[in-house]
Amino acid sequence: MVKIGNIVLRDQPLILAPMEDITDPSFRYICKQFGADLMYTEFISSDGLIRDGRKSMRKLDIFDYERPIGIQLYGHLIDSMVEAVQIAERSNPDFIDINFGCPVKKIADRGAGAGMFRDMSQMVKMTEAIVKATKLPVTVKTRLGWDDEKKNIVEVTERLQDAGIKSIAIHGRTRSQLYKGRADWTLIGEVKNNPRITIPVIGNGDVDSPQTASEMFRKYGVDGIMIGRATVGRPWIFKEIRYFLETGKKLPPLTINDIVDLAKVHFKKSVECKGEPRGVYEMRRHFSNYFRGLPHFKETRIRLLTILDVNEITGILDEISEKYGGLEM
Ligand SMILES: Cc1cc2nc3c(=O)[nH]c(=O)nc-3n(C[C@H](O)[C@H](O)[C@H](O)COP(=O)(O)O)c2cc1C
Repeated sequence: MVKIGNIVLRDQPLILAPMEDITDPSFRYICKQFGADLMYTEFISSDGLIRDGRKSMRKLDIFDYERPIGIQLYGHLIDSMVEAVQIAERSNPDFIDINFGCPVKKIADRGAGAGMFRDMSQMVKMTEAIVKATKLPVTVKTRLGWDDEKKNIVEVTERLQDAGIKSIAIHGRTRSQLYKGRADWTLIGEVKNNPRITIPVIGNGDVDSPQTASEMFRKYGVDGIMIGRATVGRPWIFKEIRYFLETGKKLPPLTINDIVDLAKVHFKKSVECKGEPRGVYEMRRHFSNYFRGLPHFKETRIRLLTILDVNEITGILDEISEKYGGLEM
Protein backbone atom coordinates (compact mmCIF):
# COMPACT_ATOMS: atom_id res chain seq x y z
CA MET A 1 0.00 0.00 0.00
CA VAL A 2 1.19 3.51 -0.79
CA LYS A 3 0.19 6.49 1.36
CA ILE A 4 0.06 10.08 0.21
CA GLY A 5 -0.91 11.84 3.42
CA ASN A 6 -4.30 10.32 4.27
CA ILE A 7 -4.80 8.93 0.75
CA VAL A 8 -4.30 5.19 0.60
CA LEU A 9 -3.44 3.59 -2.74
CA ARG A 10 -2.86 -0.04 -3.66
CA ASP A 11 0.69 -1.31 -4.12
CA GLN A 12 2.30 -0.27 -7.40
CA PRO A 13 -0.33 2.36 -8.23
CA LEU A 14 -0.71 3.46 -11.85
CA ILE A 15 -1.25 7.16 -12.18
CA LEU A 16 -2.67 9.24 -15.00
CA ALA A 17 -0.31 12.13 -15.75
CA PRO A 18 -1.91 15.56 -15.84
CA MET A 19 -2.08 16.74 -19.46
CA GLU A 20 -3.39 20.11 -20.56
CA ASP A 21 -6.32 19.81 -22.99
CA ILE A 22 -6.38 16.02 -22.57
CA THR A 23 -7.04 14.92 -18.99
CA ASP A 24 -10.41 16.61 -18.69
CA PRO A 25 -13.32 14.94 -16.83
CA SER A 26 -14.41 12.88 -19.84
CA PHE A 27 -10.96 11.39 -20.42
CA ARG A 28 -10.48 10.86 -16.69
CA TYR A 29 -13.80 8.98 -16.62
CA ILE A 30 -12.48 6.55 -19.21
CA CYS A 31 -9.08 6.14 -17.55
CA LYS A 32 -10.74 5.48 -14.21
CA GLN A 33 -12.80 2.70 -15.79
CA PHE A 34 -9.59 1.06 -16.93
CA GLY A 35 -8.05 1.25 -13.49
CA ALA A 36 -6.12 4.51 -13.10
CA ASP A 37 -5.39 4.59 -9.36
CA LEU A 38 -4.75 8.32 -9.05
CA MET A 39 -5.55 11.29 -11.27
CA TYR A 40 -5.01 15.03 -11.49
CA THR A 41 -6.77 17.87 -13.23
CA GLU A 42 -5.00 19.60 -16.09
CA PHE A 43 -2.67 22.28 -14.76
CA ILE A 44 -4.44 25.44 -13.67
CA SER A 45 -2.91 28.89 -13.60
CA SER A 46 -3.10 30.49 -10.17
CA ASP A 47 -3.44 33.90 -11.78
CA GLY A 48 -6.25 32.58 -13.99
CA LEU A 49 -8.14 31.34 -10.93
CA ILE A 50 -7.74 34.59 -9.10
CA ARG A 51 -8.94 36.54 -12.13
CA ASP A 52 -11.91 34.17 -12.23
CA GLY A 53 -10.83 33.21 -15.76
CA ARG A 54 -13.39 30.91 -17.36
CA LYS A 55 -10.96 28.32 -18.65
CA SER A 56 -9.20 28.05 -15.30
CA MET A 57 -12.44 27.86 -13.30
CA ARG A 58 -13.84 25.15 -15.57
CA LYS A 59 -10.79 23.00 -14.95
CA LEU A 60 -11.77 22.84 -11.28
CA ASP A 61 -14.73 20.55 -12.07
CA ILE A 62 -14.14 17.24 -10.36
CA PHE A 63 -16.51 14.38 -9.57
CA ASP A 64 -16.79 11.87 -6.75
CA TYR A 65 -16.16 8.85 -8.97
CA GLU A 66 -12.75 10.29 -9.82
CA ARG A 67 -11.40 10.09 -6.30
CA PRO A 68 -8.69 10.22 -5.29
CA ILE A 69 -8.08 13.26 -7.46
CA GLY A 70 -5.80 16.24 -7.10
CA ILE A 71 -5.98 19.76 -8.47
CA GLN A 72 -2.75 20.85 -10.08
CA LEU A 73 -1.74 24.50 -9.82
CA TYR A 74 1.11 26.54 -11.22
CA GLY A 75 2.26 30.08 -10.78
CA HIS A 76 5.30 32.17 -9.94
CA LEU A 77 3.98 34.26 -7.05
CA ILE A 78 3.64 32.75 -3.59
CA ASP A 79 0.66 34.88 -2.57
CA SER A 80 -1.24 34.06 -5.76
CA MET A 81 -0.57 30.35 -5.32
CA VAL A 82 -1.83 30.46 -1.74
CA GLU A 83 -4.97 32.30 -2.84
CA ALA A 84 -5.45 29.80 -5.69
CA VAL A 85 -5.19 26.91 -3.23
CA GLN A 86 -8.04 28.43 -1.26
CA ILE A 87 -10.17 28.73 -4.40
CA ALA A 88 -9.26 25.17 -5.45
CA GLU A 89 -10.23 23.81 -2.03
CA ARG A 90 -13.86 24.79 -2.68
CA SER A 91 -13.97 22.01 -5.28
CA ASN A 92 -13.09 19.58 -2.53
CA PRO A 93 -10.14 17.74 -4.12
CA ASP A 94 -8.27 15.00 -2.26
CA PHE A 95 -4.93 16.75 -2.66
CA ILE A 96 -3.23 19.79 -4.13
CA ASP A 97 -0.39 19.28 -6.59
CA ILE A 98 2.15 21.96 -7.41
CA ASN A 99 3.53 21.95 -10.93
CA PHE A 100 7.28 22.57 -10.82
CA GLY A 101 7.83 20.79 -14.12
CA CYS A 102 6.18 22.67 -16.96
CA PRO A 103 8.92 23.54 -19.50
CA VAL A 104 6.82 25.88 -21.71
CA LYS A 105 8.88 29.03 -22.31
CA LYS A 106 6.15 31.50 -21.45
CA ILE A 107 5.62 29.80 -18.10
CA ALA A 108 9.15 28.73 -17.14
CA ASP A 109 10.76 32.05 -18.13
CA ARG A 110 8.46 33.81 -15.72
CA GLY A 111 9.68 31.51 -12.96
CA ALA A 112 6.66 29.19 -12.75
CA GLY A 113 6.62 25.45 -13.54
CA ALA A 114 10.15 24.17 -14.19
CA GLY A 115 11.30 27.81 -13.98
CA MET A 116 11.35 27.28 -10.20
CA PHE A 117 14.56 25.24 -10.60
CA ARG A 118 16.33 28.56 -11.12
CA ASP A 119 15.37 29.78 -7.67
CA MET A 120 15.36 26.96 -5.20
CA SER A 121 14.70 29.19 -2.20
CA GLN A 122 11.53 30.50 -3.87
CA MET A 123 10.52 26.91 -4.70
CA VAL A 124 10.92 25.88 -1.07
CA LYS A 125 9.22 29.01 0.29
CA MET A 126 6.25 28.56 -2.04
CA THR A 127 5.90 24.93 -1.03
CA GLU A 128 6.05 25.79 2.67
CA ALA A 129 3.44 28.51 2.23
CA ILE A 130 1.08 26.15 0.39
CA VAL A 131 1.53 23.35 2.91
CA LYS A 132 0.72 25.84 5.64
CA ALA A 133 -2.32 27.19 3.82
CA THR A 134 -4.20 23.89 3.45
CA LYS A 135 -5.08 20.80 5.45
CA LEU A 136 -5.03 18.73 2.26
CA PRO A 137 -1.94 16.72 1.34
CA VAL A 138 0.32 18.74 -0.95
CA THR A 139 2.31 16.95 -3.66
CA VAL A 140 4.75 18.10 -6.32
CA LYS A 141 5.25 17.09 -9.93
CA THR A 142 8.58 18.07 -11.39
CA ARG A 143 11.58 17.16 -13.56
CA LEU A 144 15.23 16.17 -12.98
CA GLY A 145 16.45 19.76 -12.95
CA TRP A 146 16.93 22.78 -15.19
CA ASP A 147 19.49 21.35 -17.62
CA ASP A 148 22.24 18.75 -17.95
CA GLU A 149 24.59 20.78 -15.76
CA LYS A 150 22.05 21.12 -13.01
CA LYS A 151 20.18 17.91 -12.37
CA ASN A 152 19.56 18.55 -8.70
CA ILE A 153 16.40 16.53 -8.14
CA VAL A 154 17.94 14.57 -5.23
CA GLU A 155 18.55 17.75 -3.26
CA VAL A 156 15.27 19.32 -4.43
CA THR A 157 13.30 16.32 -3.19
CA GLU A 158 14.97 16.45 0.24
CA ARG A 159 14.14 20.13 0.57
CA LEU A 160 10.55 19.73 -0.61
CA GLN A 161 10.02 16.79 1.71
CA ASP A 162 11.31 18.97 4.57
CA ALA A 163 8.85 21.65 3.41
CA GLY A 164 6.04 19.15 4.00
CA ILE A 165 5.03 17.60 0.67
CA LYS A 166 3.48 14.14 0.82
CA SER A 167 4.74 12.69 -2.47
CA ILE A 168 6.78 13.65 -5.49
CA ALA A 169 6.26 12.72 -9.13
CA ILE A 170 9.40 13.04 -11.26
CA HIS A 171 9.51 13.18 -15.05
CA GLY A 172 12.93 11.86 -16.05
CA ARG A 173 13.92 14.81 -18.22
CA THR A 174 15.33 18.28 -17.55
CA ARG A 175 13.57 21.50 -18.44
CA SER A 176 16.01 22.04 -21.33
CA GLN A 177 15.24 18.64 -22.78
CA LEU A 178 11.56 19.48 -23.13
CA TYR A 179 10.38 16.12 -24.56
CA LYS A 180 13.56 15.24 -26.47
CA GLY A 181 15.71 12.16 -25.95
CA ARG A 182 14.75 9.32 -23.66
CA ALA A 183 13.57 9.85 -20.11
CA ASP A 184 16.40 8.97 -17.70
CA TRP A 185 15.09 7.02 -14.74
CA THR A 186 18.46 6.51 -13.00
CA LEU A 187 18.14 9.75 -11.03
CA ILE A 188 14.54 8.91 -10.16
CA GLY A 189 15.93 5.65 -8.74
CA GLU A 190 18.54 7.64 -6.78
CA VAL A 191 15.82 9.76 -5.22
CA LYS A 192 13.91 6.62 -4.30
CA ASN A 193 17.02 5.00 -2.80
CA ASN A 194 18.03 8.08 -0.82
CA PRO A 195 17.61 6.96 2.81
CA ARG A 196 16.54 10.54 3.71
CA ILE A 197 13.44 10.25 1.50
CA THR A 198 10.38 8.73 3.14
CA ILE A 199 7.59 10.10 0.91
CA PRO A 200 6.36 8.05 -2.07
CA VAL A 201 8.36 8.63 -5.25
CA ILE A 202 6.40 8.37 -8.49
CA GLY A 203 8.38 7.81 -11.69
CA ASN A 204 7.30 9.31 -15.00
CA GLY A 205 8.52 9.38 -18.57
CA ASP A 206 8.16 7.17 -21.64
CA VAL A 207 6.21 4.33 -20.03
CA ASP A 208 4.32 2.97 -23.01
CA SER A 209 3.75 -0.74 -22.38
CA PRO A 210 3.19 -3.27 -19.60
CA GLN A 211 6.80 -4.41 -20.05
CA THR A 212 8.29 -0.94 -19.53
CA ALA A 213 6.07 -0.31 -16.51
CA SER A 214 7.09 -3.59 -14.93
CA GLU A 215 10.77 -2.93 -15.69
CA MET A 216 10.64 0.54 -14.12
CA PHE A 217 9.10 -0.82 -10.93
CA ARG A 218 11.70 -3.58 -10.79
CA LYS A 219 14.78 -1.58 -11.72
CA TYR A 220 14.13 1.65 -9.88
CA GLY A 221 11.90 0.57 -7.00
CA VAL A 222 9.57 3.53 -7.45
CA ASP A 223 6.35 3.58 -5.44
CA GLY A 224 4.14 4.40 -8.38
CA ILE A 225 4.28 4.96 -12.11
CA MET A 226 2.73 7.89 -13.93
CA ILE A 227 1.71 7.54 -17.56
CA GLY A 228 0.94 10.39 -19.92
CA ARG A 229 1.16 10.22 -23.69
CA ALA A 230 0.74 6.45 -23.94
CA THR A 231 -2.77 6.75 -22.51
CA VAL A 232 -3.93 8.96 -25.36
CA GLY A 233 -5.79 6.73 -27.83
CA ARG A 234 -5.02 3.80 -25.53
CA PRO A 235 -6.56 4.46 -22.10
CA TRP A 236 -6.91 0.70 -21.59
CA ILE A 237 -3.13 0.64 -21.05
CA PHE A 238 -3.87 0.86 -17.31
CA LYS A 239 -5.69 -2.45 -17.48
CA GLU A 240 -3.00 -4.01 -19.64
CA ILE A 241 -0.27 -2.98 -17.21
CA ARG A 242 -2.17 -4.11 -14.11
CA TYR A 243 -2.86 -7.49 -15.69
CA PHE A 244 0.78 -7.91 -16.65
CA LEU A 245 2.00 -6.93 -13.18
CA GLU A 246 -0.36 -9.45 -11.61
CA THR A 247 0.01 -12.39 -14.01
CA GLY A 248 3.07 -11.75 -16.17
CA LYS A 249 0.76 -12.22 -19.16
CA LYS A 250 -0.59 -9.98 -21.89
CA LEU A 251 -4.30 -9.24 -22.22
CA PRO A 252 -5.85 -10.04 -25.58
CA PRO A 253 -6.01 -6.92 -27.78
CA LEU A 254 -9.18 -4.85 -28.04
CA THR A 255 -11.19 -5.01 -31.23
CA ILE A 256 -12.41 -1.96 -33.11
CA ASN A 257 -15.87 -2.80 -31.79
CA ASP A 258 -14.56 -2.42 -28.22
CA ILE A 259 -12.84 0.84 -29.13
CA VAL A 260 -15.96 2.25 -30.80
CA ASP A 261 -17.91 1.41 -27.63
CA LEU A 262 -15.48 3.27 -25.43
CA ALA A 263 -15.17 6.17 -27.88
CA LYS A 264 -18.96 6.52 -27.68
CA VAL A 265 -18.89 6.69 -23.87
CA HIS A 266 -16.01 9.16 -24.00
CA PHE A 267 -17.87 11.29 -26.56
CA LYS A 268 -21.09 11.25 -24.52
CA LYS A 269 -19.21 12.36 -21.40
CA SER A 270 -17.38 15.06 -23.32
CA VAL A 271 -20.64 16.56 -24.60
CA GLU A 272 -22.26 16.15 -21.18
CA CYS A 273 -19.40 17.96 -19.44
CA LYS A 274 -18.64 20.65 -22.01
CA GLY A 275 -21.81 21.01 -24.03
CA GLU A 276 -22.03 21.52 -27.78
CA PRO A 277 -20.03 22.36 -29.78
CA ARG A 278 -17.05 22.41 -27.36
CA GLY A 279 -17.50 18.83 -26.26
CA VAL A 280 -17.46 17.85 -29.94
CA TYR A 281 -14.36 19.88 -30.83
CA GLU A 282 -12.45 18.51 -27.89
CA MET A 283 -13.23 14.92 -28.86
CA ARG A 284 -11.62 15.27 -32.27
CA ARG A 285 -8.07 14.67 -31.08
CA HIS A 286 -9.25 11.59 -29.21
CA PHE A 287 -11.15 10.17 -32.19
CA SER A 288 -8.06 10.70 -34.24
CA ASN A 289 -5.99 8.75 -31.74
CA TYR A 290 -8.51 5.95 -31.18
CA PHE A 291 -8.67 5.11 -34.87
CA ARG A 292 -5.09 5.88 -35.89
CA GLY A 293 -3.70 3.42 -38.40
CA LEU A 294 -7.01 2.03 -39.69
CA PRO A 295 -6.65 1.15 -43.39
CA HIS A 296 -8.55 3.21 -46.00
CA PHE A 297 -9.85 5.46 -43.25
CA LYS A 298 -9.15 8.89 -44.77
CA GLU A 299 -12.66 9.75 -45.92
CA THR A 300 -14.32 8.56 -42.70
CA ARG A 301 -11.68 10.34 -40.67
CA ILE A 302 -12.35 13.65 -42.43
CA ARG A 303 -16.06 13.35 -41.71
CA LEU A 304 -15.41 12.36 -38.10
CA LEU A 305 -13.20 15.39 -37.61
CA THR A 306 -15.35 18.00 -39.34
CA ILE A 307 -18.97 17.17 -38.58
CA LEU A 308 -20.50 18.87 -35.57
CA ASP A 309 -23.82 17.09 -35.20
CA VAL A 310 -23.73 14.61 -32.31
CA ASN A 311 -26.12 12.10 -33.90
CA GLU A 312 -24.28 12.18 -37.19
CA ILE A 313 -21.00 11.51 -35.41
CA THR A 314 -22.55 8.60 -33.54
CA GLY A 315 -23.68 7.28 -36.93
CA ILE A 316 -20.10 7.47 -38.22
CA LEU A 317 -18.91 5.54 -35.16
CA ASP A 318 -21.47 2.84 -35.99
CA GLU A 319 -20.18 2.76 -39.55
CA ILE A 320 -16.63 2.23 -38.25
CA SER A 321 -17.91 -0.67 -36.20
CA GLU A 322 -19.64 -2.22 -39.20
CA LYS A 323 -16.66 -1.79 -41.47
CA TYR A 324 -13.76 -2.68 -39.16
CA GLY A 325 -15.50 -4.25 -36.13
CA GLY A 326 -13.49 -7.43 -35.59
CA LEU A 327 -10.10 -5.88 -36.35
CA GLU A 328 -7.72 -5.96 -33.38
CA MET A 329 -5.65 -2.99 -32.21
C1 LIG B 1 -0.07 17.45 -24.30
C2 LIG B 1 0.60 17.41 -22.96
C3 LIG B 1 0.12 18.21 -21.94
C4 LIG B 1 0.73 18.19 -20.68
N1 LIG B 1 0.21 18.95 -19.67
C5 LIG B 1 0.74 18.84 -18.42
C6 LIG B 1 0.13 19.50 -17.32
O1 LIG B 1 -0.89 20.17 -17.44
N2 LIG B 1 0.71 19.35 -16.10
C7 LIG B 1 1.85 18.59 -15.91
O2 LIG B 1 2.34 18.47 -14.79
N3 LIG B 1 2.42 17.96 -16.95
C8 LIG B 1 1.89 18.04 -18.17
N4 LIG B 1 2.43 17.31 -19.19
C9 LIG B 1 3.57 16.40 -18.91
C10 LIG B 1 3.06 15.00 -18.58
O3 LIG B 1 2.31 15.01 -17.39
C11 LIG B 1 4.22 14.01 -18.43
O4 LIG B 1 5.06 14.44 -17.40
C12 LIG B 1 5.04 13.86 -19.70
O5 LIG B 1 4.21 13.74 -20.84
C13 LIG B 1 5.98 12.64 -19.63
O6 LIG B 1 5.24 11.45 -19.43
P1 LIG B 1 4.91 10.43 -20.64
O7 LIG B 1 6.22 10.09 -21.29
O8 LIG B 1 4.27 9.26 -19.99
O9 LIG B 1 4.02 11.16 -21.58
C14 LIG B 1 1.86 17.36 -20.45
C15 LIG B 1 2.33 16.56 -21.49
C16 LIG B 1 1.72 16.56 -22.73
C17 LIG B 1 2.26 15.67 -23.81
